[in-house]
Amino acid sequence: MSTTFTLDTATSRAHPVPEPVRRLTVPAIARRKGGEPIVMLTAYTARMAQLLDSHCDLLLVGDSLGQVIYGLDTTVKVSVEMMIAHGAAVVRGSYRSVVVIDLPFGTYEESPEAAFRTAARVMQETGAAAVKLEGGAVMAPTVKFLAERGIPVMAHVGLTPQAVNALGGYGARGRSEAEAAKILDDARAVAAAGCFALVVEGVVEPLARAITETVACPTIGIGASPACDGQVLVVDDMLGMFERVPRFVERFDDLKTHISAAAERYAGAVRDRSFPGEAQLYR
Ligand code: KIV
Repeated sequence: MSTTFTLDTATSRAHPVPEPVRRLTVPAIARRKGGEPIVMLTAYTARMAQLLDSHCDLLLVGDSLGQVIYGLDTTVKVSVEMMIAHGAAVVRGSYRSVVVIDLPFGTYEESPEAAFRTAARVMQETGAAAVKLEGGAVMAPTVKFLAERGIPVMAHVGLTPQAVNALGGYGARGRSEAEAAKILDDARAVAAAGCFALVVEGVVEPLARAITETVACPTIGIGASPACDGQVLVVDDMLGMFERVPRFVERFDDLKTHISAAAERYAGAVRDRSFPGEAQLYR
């Protein structure tokens, strides 16, 4: 599947405009429970969204952008302004996928009303169709409050990176019976509250499978199970931009090596004056 682009040459860097295509909807994603696997990747820029769009069902503007784009140590420092700037870019660069934007730490946990205000602002200022928030049973009233007021919510249980300070790290969750039971309860609670899909991150495989079999909404796994209704990865991890990635990542390319090699060739060409060449000069 690929999108055909025509080039708008009025802009200095040609802006691809795709053939008309209908954007998927949140209800269409919710109906995919137990059906064709749902493909989700993170995206943070318009150009990356253009490249990923025709291959994905969902583009997640994850707060992982704090680490991936801004070099922050955790997602805790990500602001709503960052999410809005990158979210709007991804909506502009996509035509088919449902765009989901993470609500950042500290902007929704206090109350359903606070979550509504943040989510409404994010949706109004970006054009995204849905938001994602982290947390289980404790966030269920918020999921319900938003869902009943027209804000589709993707929930996120298991390893929840915004809680890294409370969890003490990014290790897999659900290794003890008690923790697995708690995460299953969390999943049940947010699903019953009306989330349209549920990210299950960093849990032992049988737990992810059990959550998928238990909840009525699609589950989207990351470090979870092939039994999930869909999968998500951080796009820069998947493309091989980093030396170290979590165990659950498969690198589908090695972009860091391509980029480093291209930069080395460029530097050599500048230093030996072979760049710019005749083809790059105005005569
Ligand atoms: O922020 C993010 O990118 C995420 C995904 C890893 C699910 O939450």
